[in-house]
Amino acid sequence: MTVAFTVNGAVQSVDAPESATLLEVLRNHLGLRGTRYGCGLEQCGCCMVLVDGETSYACTREVGTVAGRAVTTIEGLGTVEAPHPLQRAFLDEQAGQCGYCLSGILISAKALLDRTPDPSRAEVIAALDKHLCRCGAHQRIIRAVERAAATLRGSAA
Ligand code: FES
Ligand code: FES
Repeated sequence: MTVAFTVNGAVQSVDAPESATLLEVLRNHLGLRGTRYGCGLEQCGCCMVLVDGETSYACTREVGTVAGRAVTTIEGLGTVEAPHPLQRAFLDEQAGQCGYCLSGILISAKALLDRTPDPSRAEVIAALDKHLCRCGAHQRIIRAVERAAATLRGSAA
């Protein structure tokens, strides 16, 4: 099966088995290894990507369902040279230990800030509720999202 979709702004056409998940295609066909495999069961959130701006678990989503759609992965947020304000804030707050959970968390945080520029702490927690962080970095992660929100609001003013 050939599936064409946009990934981080570039059109991709991929030959993959019909049963292939979006996560397999991103990692194994396109070499985008920032999106991670954790549970494969929509239980941990480390595979989270955006599909047309909405969060989606790449570990269970069949790749055929993204045909013609726009997928954003962690590689689409920013670069080492020009990090997204969320990535900058996570560095500034040292909001991670092993980092395994962070790709998915950053994606969900981006979805939140895109629709809610000034979220309450409860809204940040709710947006990240589907993500497991085994290192216990939760407080710093929440602070980093709040810091990024303030930065983005400042740059929009
Ligand atoms: S790997 Fe997708 S939710 Fe855990
Ligand atoms: S920083 Fe290690 S799982 Fe979150």
